[in-house]
Amino acid sequence: MSDAHAYDEHPYTGYVYWFTHPDHLGVVGALHGLDTAPADGCRVLELGCGDGGNLVPLAAALPTSHFVGVDLCEAHIRAGTDLVGRLGLGNVELVRGDVATLEVPGTFDYIIAHGLFSWVPEATRAAALDLVQRALAPHGVALISYNAYPGWHDEAPVRRLMEFHTRPVAGAADKIQQARGIADWHCRRMVGLFGEERKGQMERVLGVVAAASDTLIRHDYLCEHHQPLYFEDFVARARARGLEFLANARPGKLRLGGFEPEVADMLRRVGDPVRRQQYMDFFAHTRFRETLLCRAGHAIQRDAAPRARLAALAAESRLDQDVWAPATRDAEAITVEAPAGAVTIAGTPLRIALSVLQRQAPRAVPLRELFQATLPIGCSPCSSASCSRSTTSRSCTCGGRPRPSPARCRPTPTRRRCSARWRRPAPRCPA
Ligand SMILES: C[S@@+](CC[C@H](N)C(=O)[O-])C[C@H]1O[C@@H](n2cnc3c(N)ncnc32)[C@H](O)[C@@H]1O
Repeated sequence: MSDAHAYDEHPYTGYVYWFTHPDHLGVVGALHGLDTAPADGCRVLELGCGDGGNLVPLAAALPTSHFVGVDLCEAHIRAGTDLVGRLGLGNVELVRGDVATLEVPGTFDYIIAHGLFSWVPEATRAAALDLVQRALAPHGVALISYNAYPGWHDEAPVRRLMEFHTRPVAGAADKIQQARGIADWHCRRMVGLFGEERKGQMERVLGVVAAASDTLIRHDYLCEHHQPLYFEDFVARARARGLEFLANARPGKLRLGGFEPEVADMLRRVGDPVRRQQYMDFFAHTRFRETLLCRAGHAIQRDAAPRARLAALAAESRLDQDVWAPATRDAEAITVEAPAGAVTIAGTPLRIALSVLQRQAPRAVPLRELFQATLPIGCSPCSSASCSRSTTSRSCTCGGRPRPSPARCRPTPTRRRCSARWRRPAPRCPA
């Protein structure tokens, strides 16, 4: 059974993926120097949109933007179109079509291909990138996710065994059950044969297979086509079409702070952004990637975003902890649990800013307003008449000394949320 029919027999239930939201893509693009389209006035194309589980909520949340979803599976498009009709949405079209031969009118500010690239034939992979090249607006952002090496090197032979073993089996339920069975038997046998040498690897694979839903087993493990990629190879394919690596769609997932200090220092010294990312994948054993592309030729800002761009943004916090609470205020630094892992926060202005955001959550606070709320409390203005800086140190870098700090605020926590991220003031993510 071809993969296209596999979706008809065992449909894939779509979800909302927060990192595909045009607001998020637009902010990441803007922070990297692109003049991205606003979320409430943009055109979005999703390739392999499934049943519209991601696109339809986005369309509902952003009624002044336009959304087009394309998928090969008739059952998916029927289910999605039915949902669009029931919701009465006029700004989203779900179209049955093949990415390999698709022509779309006009250009799109955001193109999303989540869960498609690794699971289609090579010709479709090439066509998908060609389509992005043709249809991406000049300052557009494309998100493409794919299974990645080196992480998939552990699983690839087991996945292949599962697919090979169940090829003659008819019926999705039987296939899935037998695939789980052979994976379990094989991994345990490998541990028996090779002992400690393979134990950790096989147990990790067993854990991943056991945790995977039946749908994931059917479409990620038992699919006819499955091609993980090294990041640098993916970027080479994109570059061959005049596209460039912009950033990771989930900036918190693979960050320097997630590595031991000496590894982070080594990575910091790798100037080429693609080489640095590839090193990170080796060191973090990455198995899945969500990569953002833009058109080649932009002066991509990869370090600190220019001030003018920051000034146009707002920030919200999902921290569930007040990092400037009276009880811990005197600590040098404070460690909080964020979705991407533990984060240590040091520095008075940063802690006060996060505290202000936490108290205002879920409101996104314009950065100008945040600075005003933060700097008079956390920093003292420099006493030098010619210097406009604020500083927390005993003397300013201009040589002047800070004036005494005004009274400290004592924020009261009112909400419990987690993690902080930059965003535009509106609208809000439905995820
Ligand atoms: C794993 S699902 C992902 C669905 C959705 N993007 C998500 O992440 O929830 C892959 C989707 O790609 C679609 N697909 C596969 N090959 C395609 C092609 N050549 N053209 C368009 N859609 C395709 C499948 O029908 C399926 O709905």
